[in-house]
Amino acid sequence: MKERFTGNFTQQEPIPDEGIEAALEVLRHGRLHRYNVAEGETSHAALLEQEFAAQMGSKYALAVSSGGYAIATALRAVGVEAGDRVLTNAFTLAPVPGAIASVGAKPVFVEVTEALTIDLDHLTALLAQSDAPGVLLLSHMRGHICDMDRLMQICDASGVTVIEDCAHTMGARWNGVLSGRHGAMAAYSTQTYKHVNSGEGGLLISDDPDLMARAIILSGSYMLYERHLAGPPPEAFEKVKYITPNISGRMDNLRAAILRSQLAKLDAQCAAWNARYRVVEEGLRNTPGLTVINRPEAENYVMSSFQFLLLDWSEDAVTTVVDRCASRGVELKWFGGAEPAGFTSRYDSWRYADTPSLPKTDRILKGILDLRLPLTFSIGDCTMIASIIREEVQSSFHEK
Ligand SMILES: Cc1ncc(COP(=O)(O)O)c(C=O)c1O
Repeated sequence: MKERFTGNFTQQEPIPDEGIEAALEVLRHGRLHRYNVAEGETSHAALLEQEFAAQMGSKYALAVSSGGYAIATALRAVGVEAGDRVLTNAFTLAPVPGAIASVGAKPVFVEVTEALTIDLDHLTALLAQSDAPGVLLLSHMRGHICDMDRLMQICDASGVTVIEDCAHTMGARWNGVLSGRHGAMAAYSTQTYKHVNSGEGGLLISDDPDLMARAIILSGSYMLYERHLAGPPPEAFEKVKYITPNISGRMDNLRAAILRSQLAKLDAQCAAWNARYRVVEEGLRNTPGLTVINRPEAENYVMSSFQFLLLDWSEDAVTTVVDRCASRGVELKWFGGAEPAGFTSRYDSWRYADTPSLPKTDRILKGILDLRLPLTFSIGDCTMIASIIREEVQSSFHEK
């Protein structure tokens, strides 16, 4: 009898007791709207922003309703308008090109490398064109961080504004610098499967007072922006308050209360995630036909999921691995399927965007397999998951 894994790949940990207590207090007093405060009270939303800015080392932070909303707000704040083109990763998830489309702009996809990061040579080539876009929405997809020093050199040299999508890199670093601290703005998600969980939610950071003043008004601050403890000074708002539309997407006090206690534990949680990642990585290393993603020394990742490649395998052979793993309780998501499924879709299924020919990306997407590693899995669970994948890859290798 082959061993079968019985854990649940979508089961996150419970909210910490402090978060539950804080949330209950908000429910009991009923002041859920972030600007609804009693005399002398500071809202959880404002405190969350202050704490997150301190944690990320940014001057300003804004809490909003989702990661996708945070990205769209950043795009608007840096001046992206309907009809503009915005560079972004071809390997990412649907909310990223979706945020670009939500402001009426068009994604321009950049190829992915075997390290699962943006292809900087392709980016350079795109920027050499006369109609090159002026904004890059850089998605640190599945926590893989490109050479940020080189990326910033390329973008600075071309005058390109970088917005970082840090939905999968909260707390990660490149060369000691926190993910999200290279670009003009950075967006984070607090949706259930991310590093902190409020069901839905997003955070945006920046050091630029004008961008953040715009973002705060965009998020639906009315003229209550001075209640933001992690916002720029009033002068910044004076410049933009009459010309910036309110596109409501505020964070509420209930979710902010849930998040504050989790952010306080972020480093320990990230260490626990990485411990699980390393066990799976070790378990899969040197499996014939399977490529483990080598991580550069400069990257301090924070992995809540695991990716590996079955490069140049046939579709049938990959499907066999996925099916056999599934029959043993291990859920692999495949980015190579012709049809979008579940959370997984690919650049050529986003048909509201122009679909370029991206041969390098096509080859890699056909081979990417992805699994979640929630913290409800023990280290022993991760050992078993790796051994099941290893066995099934080995047994399908001859069919590849
Ligand atoms: C890479 C990436 N960016 C952005 C988002 C958007 O986050 P949200 O679901 O909070 O809108 C997600 C969500 O899954 C994501 O995976």
